[in-house]
Amino acid sequence: MTNTALPGPPALEAREVRHGFGGHPVLHGVSLAVEPGEVVAVSGPSGSGKSTLLHLLGGLDTPQGGEVWWAGERVDLLDTQARARRRAGRIGLVFQHHYLLEDLSVLDNVRVPALLRGEGGSEARARALLERVGLLGRERDLPGVLSGGERQRVAVARALVTRPAVVLADEPTGSLDRANADRVAELLLGLAREQGAGVLLVTHDERQAARADRALHLLDGRIGV
Ligand SMILES: Nc1ncnc2c1ncn2[C@@H]1O[C@H](COP(=O)(O)OP(=O)(O)O)[C@@H](O)[C@H]1O
Ligand SMILES: [Mg+2]
Repeated sequence: MTNTALPGPPALEAREVRHGFGGHPVLHGVSLAVEPGEVVAVSGPSGSGKSTLLHLLGGLDTPQGGEVWWAGERVDLLDTQARARRRAGRIGLVFQHHYLLEDLSVLDNVRVPALLRGEGGSEARARALLERVGLLGRERDLPGVLSGGERQRVAVARALVTRPAVVLADEPTGSLDRANADRVAELLLGLAREQGAGVLLVTHDERQAARADRALHLLDGRIGV
């Protein structure tokens, strides 16, 4: 026995991922890894395939080639349902537009991923996260009365409610003004780091990319540094 722990598998890994649409290739073999607790930014021109890559890494779509691994488990070969079950609780997702459920209260929106996992006792956790994102007192509000920044803070709380090992964020501050963008990015990355989650942050915004531990660039379907 030794005191030196062997490094575990990456929280998230892509191996030579290839994908395209209608015969038009978008990703030509993308490989990357995100370690637990690490924040990796991916930037690249519009249309370069950032969202496509994020969907494949999150198991929302199946790559045409290559492999996707979550915490040492290969998931691209699983069928859609099995992958959705694995994703629940392991992967938190934040998009540019929050996709909150407009008929549910702020509190229930945050609880949805936990409830889908059968974690009925998630209410205290959801309230604690709402406090951290500055929305305590707004639990009963419907999303429609919130500002854009507030909605995106709800989306951040929702992404973290199950303590996922990985957070995938696609332009999470893209629709916000600078002050709100900074606040949302700070909350997202701060909370994820506290929980030891790996983060893949897709962003156009150099200010937000500069918050990452490592920055990658997607160009011509490949990843470079
Ligand atoms: N569902 C889809 N069907 C057809 N083409 C798509 C689809 N999703 C993305 N594309 C195309 O793939 C390319 C990359 O898109 P996307 O991943 O959204 O880029 P980015 O997020 O970097 O702006 C674009 O040319 C886009 O039109
Ligand atoms: Mg995109």
